[in-house]
Amino acid sequence: MGDNTVKALQEKIREQLHNRNAILLAHNYQLPEVQDVADLCGDSLELSIKASETDAEVIVFCGVHFMAETASILCPDKKILLPVSSAGCPMADMITAEQLREKKREMPEAVVISYVNTTAEVKAESDLCCTSANAVQVANSVEKARPIFMTPDKNLARYTKKHTNRKIGYWNGYCVYHNSLTVEQIKKVKKDYPNAVFLAHPECRPEVLDMADEVKSTSGMIAYAADSDRKEFIIGTETGILHPLSKANPGKRFVPADPKMVCTDMKKTGLHEVLLALENLGPEVKVPEEIRIRAKRAVDRMLAVRV
Ligand code: 13P
Ligand code: SF4
Repeated sequence: MGDNTVKALQEKIREQLHNRNAILLAHNYQLPEVQDVADLCGDSLELSIKASETDAEVIVFCGVHFMAETASILCPDKKILLPVSSAGCPMADMITAEQLREKKREMPEAVVISYVNTTAEVKAESDLCCTSANAVQVANSVEKARPIFMTPDKNLARYTKKHTNRKIGYWNGYCVYHNSLTVEQIKKVKKDYPNAVFLAHPECRPEVLDMADEVKSTSGMIAYAADSDRKEFIIGTETGILHPLSKANPGKRFVPADPKMVCTDMKKTGLHEVLLALENLGPEVKVPEEIRIRAKRAVDRMLAVRV
């Protein structure tokens, strides 16, 4: 797509957003042209908070299905649009509500913390929710005597366990992209960029996180790079984040830890789909009320935890 076509589509989108009293939220992994037209780009926590606070009648969610569901959980009176309804998160689909119910029968004493990357049905079975930005604080908010069970990401759970004094069990889920980042690959990139700071996302394997200078959510990485005096960074997460990192830090260099870390679901949404969603006011994501009420308790308990 040429620059003029991109600009023209972005202008039409801004006009439709105004006409529909809508807001466009985009995750940090979205395509650059989608991030550039958004009202807010952010990590899962920031986008949830923004969704809960906005006065707009319509939220266009450029991300994946669980993110739009979280907005629907928080804002039942708003129309939540997910421009490409097949944009999902394979990790979120690694545990079902029935599987979690069975686990709870096995461990009735456990407090269940589900990563925001879960379906609304799984959140409805959970005591608390967390994101990559607040998992440690959420786990620390649980009564000390109670064991914790985290779903679905084994890597986030192991990271949380290492940084808290809690007894934490976990489901065996993972992000296919983050989990495939290896120690050998990091060694290779570090050799090419010996002065670079290595920032990793907690969805990476423990042995990779052990090599990181800092472990951060996607927006945590953006904030860290902006504050740092260092000039080179190796980025251990999905490559979409290179756009906001480079945009916010013109004098700094950002190297992907592995250029193969591209989440295909995050790349499904283009400007045409965003415009169509605004014109058609669909596809819509709406969580059924009985699930929403139960899921909201877990999300609200997370939002009450101070980071
Ligand atoms: P963040 O909340 O850190 O943006 O992560 C979301 C995600 O899906 C990571 O793969
Ligand atoms: Fe899910 Fe991984 Fe894609 Fe994030 S990067 S949305 S965890 S599949």
